[in-house]
Amino acid sequence: MATRKAAVLGAQNLFRSSSPPFTRNLHASSESKKIVGVFYKANEYASMNPNFVGCAEGALGIREWLESQGHQYIVTDDKDGPNSELEKHIPDLHVLISTPFHPAYVTAERIKKAKNLQLLLTAGIGSDHIDLKAAAAAGLTVAEVTGSNVVSVAEDELMRILILVRNFVPGYNQVINGDWNVAAIAHRAYDLEGKTVGTVGAGRIGKLLLQRLKPFNCNLLYHDRLKMDSDLESQIGAKFEEDLDAMLPKCDIIVINMPLTEKTVGMFNKEKIAKLKKGVLIVNNARGAIMDTQAVADACSSGHIAGYSGDVWFPQPAPKDHPWRYMPNQAMTPHISGTTIDAQLRYAAGVKDMLDRYFKGEDFPAQHYIVKEGELASQYR
Ligand SMILES: NC(=O)c1ccc[n+]([C@@H]2O[C@H](COP(=O)([O-])OP(=O)(O)OC[C@H]3O[C@@H](n4cnc5c(N)ncnc54)[C@H](O)[C@@H]3O)[C@@H](O)[C@H]2O)c1
Repeated sequence: MATRKAAVLGAQNLFRSSSPPFTRNLHASSESKKIVGVFYKANEYASMNPNFVGCAEGALGIREWLESQGHQYIVTDDKDGPNSELEKHIPDLHVLISTPFHPAYVTAERIKKAKNLQLLLTAGIGSDHIDLKAAAAAGLTVAEVTGSNVVSVAEDELMRILILVRNFVPGYNQVINGDWNVAAIAHRAYDLEGKTVGTVGAGRIGKLLLQRLKPFNCNLLYHDRLKMDSDLESQIGAKFEEDLDAMLPKCDIIVINMPLTEKTVGMFNKEKIAKLKKGVLIVNNARGAIMDTQAVADACSSGHIAGYSGDVWFPQPAPKDHPWRYMPNQAMTPHISGTTIDAQLRYAAGVKDMLDRYFKGEDFPAQHYIVKEGELASQYR
């Protein structure tokens, strides 16, 4: 595995670009396109559900449609390194469809090699696996299916909050291991009611989570670049905290709901974590690299963080010796929250719609653009 330092540098490198600026026309011609999709492989699970379109075998359910129009569609899960299947197709692909669940890291070097590349589509939300500045400098369009899995993630976050608050995982493990020890669970199990929950980022997912938390009678706080209008704020029942450092020590539970950007990479380092209440619970389904990996593991070991749960790691797939696999009081999973069958159907439909518009030379829905005409979406600048 890469060392921790290399992993952090790797995450940070996604935000640095050395590519010279040049432009490529998004709708250069109507000829046949080479489209490459990179998705996780499902093997024996592929045939278990006809709606399982998000895997490599399901290929977003668009193979027949693309091929009937004369386009070439190559799908693989082999994405890392110079000998990977993806690397082979980099020099002549026109469109790359990738997904955050099995991220194809699109570096400045790959962009430089991809002379025919015009369009990078993310099947899901969060395009931080792409060097967005290099993509902008190269005149590429980057778009994702904004909103496609926000309910899926908000529901999952609510589940993770309850799993941590009730100390669920050690109880489940007791059952598996043939044990029975109520005290081992009960000494650190609480009610959610009355606790202070703060979301760092209150965009689409953050707002849905706050709405779902309201009936639990918590004290709800949010920090964001943008304050909600006061009607929405009072309907959601959350208080705006302009100063993140002032919000952090108030919270029993922190949920991360902002994108991975130059400003948020490594934001939760040792110093930031020291500002959190001792015994805080953290849920992070946003991006692993928003956290300093080792600082989180150390704070879980010391008990400063009493529980950490999320589905996002850096890099992905997480190596076998990733420290979060071994830290105490974690309730981690692979990257799953935004890839429910319902979410897959929504983001597959969104990708198909954007491809259709691309072939016809039409614009995408404005909220889908992450990079357009050399400009990054505002929160990535
Ligand atoms: N685990 C999953 O399966 C999964 C699925 C979908 C999205 N995500 C992650 O969740 C993130 C949020 O998704 P969303 O749909 O709510 O996005 P969104 O764009 O609707 O909301 C993001 C919010 O973060 C705020 N923000 C951005 N930079 C900030 C900063 N530096 N400080 C404070 N606030 C900041 C924005 O103002 C915005 O309100 C995505 O970017 C993605 O990384 C994960």
